[in-house]
Amino acid sequence: MSDIYEPPEGLKASAHIHAMQDYRNRYAESIGDPAKFWGEIAKGFHWQTTPTADKFLTYNFDIRKGPIAIKWMEDGVTNICYNCLDRHLPQKGSQIAFYWEGNDLEDEKTITYSELHREVCKFANVLKRNGVKKGDCVAVYMPMIPELIISMLACSRIGAVHSIVFGGYSAESLAARIIDGGIRTLVTADGVWRGNKLIHSLEVVDQAMAIAKKAGHPIEKNVVVRHLIRLHHGNGSASEKEAYEKILASSWNNERDSWWEDEMKEASEQCDVEWMQAEDPSFILYTSGSTGKPKGVLHTVAGYMLFAATTFKFTFDFRPDDVYWCTADIGWITGHTYVTYGPLLNGATSVLFEGTPFYPSNDRFWQVIQKYKVSKFYTAPTAIRALMKFGEDFVDKYDLSSLKVLGTVGEPINPEAWLWYHKYVGNSKAAIVDTYWQTETGGHVLTPLPGCTPTKPGSACFPFFGVIPVILDEEGKELEGPAEGYIAFKKPWPGIMRTVFGDHKRFEQIYFSRFPGYYMTGDGAKRDADGYIWITGRIDDMLNCSGTYCFDFLQLTPQTKMPLMHPGHLMSTAQVESALVEHSNVVEAAVVSCPHPVKGECLYCYVTPMEGVHIDASMAKELRILVREKIAPFASPDYIQEAIHLPKTRSGKIMRRILRQIAANDPDLGDTSTMADSTIIPSLQEGRRKVV
Ligand code: PRX
Repeated sequence: MSDIYEPPEGLKASAHIHAMQDYRNRYAESIGDPAKFWGEIAKGFHWQTTPTADKFLTYNFDIRKGPIAIKWMEDGVTNICYNCLDRHLPQKGSQIAFYWEGNDLEDEKTITYSELHREVCKFANVLKRNGVKKGDCVAVYMPMIPELIISMLACSRIGAVHSIVFGGYSAESLAARIIDGGIRTLVTADGVWRGNKLIHSLEVVDQAMAIAKKAGHPIEKNVVVRHLIRLHHGNGSASEKEAYEKILASSWNNERDSWWEDEMKEASEQCDVEWMQAEDPSFILYTSGSTGKPKGVLHTVAGYMLFAATTFKFTFDFRPDDVYWCTADIGWITGHTYVTYGPLLNGATSVLFEGTPFYPSNDRFWQVIQKYKVSKFYTAPTAIRALMKFGEDFVDKYDLSSLKVLGTVGEPINPEAWLWYHKYVGNSKAAIVDTYWQTETGGHVLTPLPGCTPTKPGSACFPFFGVIPVILDEEGKELEGPAEGYIAFKKPWPGIMRTVFGDHKRFEQIYFSRFPGYYMTGDGAKRDADGYIWITGRIDDMLNCSGTYCFDFLQLTPQTKMPLMHPGHLMSTAQVESALVEHSNVVEAAVVSCPHPVKGECLYCYVTPMEGVHIDASMAKELRILVREKIAPFASPDYIQEAIHLPKTRSGKIMRRILRQIAANDPDLGDTSTMADSTIIPSLQEGRRKVV
């Protein structure tokens, strides 16, 4: 029986939901009559045409009965940008929407709601002037700067579908997203400092555009934010400046590229919104697929809006005087829902952070919390584990007494990290909310509520309103009481994805075919005797990988080799395998996830080289570079083991379970009877000692 932490008394008294009975009643209502429950919530938004009760929800979750379809508030007409900005202007025009905190300590600025509205209108006009129309897809590849949020909202304002591509992705990954989305318009920046390292985004974007063009997808317009302006004002070395000038000269194309500031100069501050049908597409965000090719998860306008706003309000117990900070990058779903849309839909004041937790020193998070008196803070277990290593002194130096709610997301949080977060960051007075969700779910699907849920460290506790989790066995039978199995959901909630962009069959196949009648998450979970749900991790060939991003991308010193704050990037092992086999001396590769004390999980790669070739340090380096180029620096393999043979079934399938156990140094390999040749096991176990 694990310890239970009651909600903090101070929070409980004033919380939106301050008793479990209240939660249970509202939860029952949300399940019993979704139209009534969400209809009441919808009243808090602006609708050009209010959705009617009869068409509030229509869906088919059962592949045996026909195509999967999910429609919420189908006859409603609204606009998410209008609800984020225009709706608040009369009361909140001069309120700060974002405190922007840059990579360097002296980089900061604020943006009020009316300033944000003005910039969004101007940029929406820029997009329109460049031919972007309702339904067109625009890709945005940028660091964490206000222009990223402005671009997203400008798209939403005119009904364009945004596809945000994480600014740390390689040219190949960006190109794949440009091609898949049929993108003609890009919004980018010239570069960014991550810690001490200067990243020349201009170069990456130019390479990506060249790849896309070759594949028949030329970019017609690339609007570039001049973010490295300070390079010209002394921030940066002469060699950095020289490199920048060189890249600019070789990549800039006047026909295609223009500076953001030039485009904005002539743009009008007036821009009517495009009124959208509730089920019109709002954005695409790519997430890894287990077959390797990323899936464009598609969310639509109104359901996502309601769910982002409502989860933000209740999970963080939002109050108008809060200063809220989510450290996730907007390139991930956490940034979409809980940096941009959720906070703005609630009229919140947030911190937008460009930097890393380790620059200029390892106490940057705590400094920023003190500086802005952050009251609600949301980060990832990997960041907490990394920061724990520096000891409590780093935290104790700062006044963190403003903190009331501390959130985590992205992977299971180990109780040790949970307890440290609670004790040292929250001073045992803040509520911890371990939020479980996915790109596909749009917002939190399992989470404690800070004013009412007694929490257990490591458990995401109970479902959010409207969400019905079940635990299924191998046969798809619902398990009652304490049980362990596959976690799935029984009915749609407003924020669930609607399709995989351009491939509805793949959507049905991935999420709805294994267990007909349910949305399958791909995660395992157990339910304890008190009904608490504990996520146990992925049950497919996916992993949450985070740390290497920091090792390689930031080129930190050995002492500060710690992962960056991004939650585990969900990636498929197949993606890494296909990159590895592109090496001319590789015959085959099998990649599995392996437990890691800081990162949670890391990448362990078994590689079969060509005959006569051995994987030495230099080949390992080439393999790592290949993966970084094909996917992203964060995907760089942690361990590479030479494997002359891989364990296979008689039908030739690689037995990843065995490889996972060997990587984790588990001596008991269980049943190996289905293996074609079990005599190779000792050499695989032996090879573990020679990883590079
Ligand atoms: O495995 C689960 C894990 O992250 C996966 C979703 O990854 P992604 O779509 O990139 O979204 C990450 C941010 C929402 C899930 O399938 N995951 C996310 N949150 C938790 C988690 N695992 C355990 N506990 C969590 N709180």
